[in-house]
Amino acid sequence: MSGARVAILVVSDTASLDPSADRSGPALQSLLTQAGYVCTHLEIVPDDETRIRTVVLGWCDHGDVDWIVTTGGTGFGLRDRTPEAIKPLLDREAPGLVALILNASLQATPLAALSRPVAGTIKNTLIVTLPGSVKAVQENTAALLQPGVIEHAIELVR
Ligand code: MTE
Repeated sequence: MSGARVAILVVSDTASLDPSADRSGPALQSLLTQAGYVCTHLEIVPDDETRIRTVVLGWCDHGDVDWIVTTGGTGFGLRDRTPEAIKPLLDREAPGLVALILNASLQATPLAALSRPVAGTIKNTLIVTLPGSVKAVQENTAALLQPGVIEHAIELVR
């Protein structure tokens, strides 16, 4: 890939209290870096809609991030509100990207039905929300990193 700039946001109460407990952020960073992306940011916030929005909008307003990938907070736990935080920010939704990751994930596990991902664009930045486990990160990323998909989306959004 072209060296597109990706920012990772880990959404987790646990990891926000103890960043050393976070496995998904580093796993995601490693997978994206191996695929040729430049990881410009890796931040951790608790499952708090305002905190999630503040970080995401800051990155999008600054205009130096092509793709934001969040991990965590997509399920049915009472504090899982990443989709609710992100959806109102989207200029345009990307249901095709949601279908891509859910289809691939459901082939790996029926538990993928418990994730409520959203994807879309905010200004010139693409954003996709992934579940929080390392296994889910690996499976979802494998789907997204199929040749051409995200590269082409980023070219179009820039
Ligand atoms: N998707 C994939 N590909 N692989 C998984 O193991 N786990 C599911 C689901 N999506 C899973 C997955 C489970 S068990 C949950 S509870 C939800 O993601 C939500 O996870 P989150 O709340 O950490 O975002």
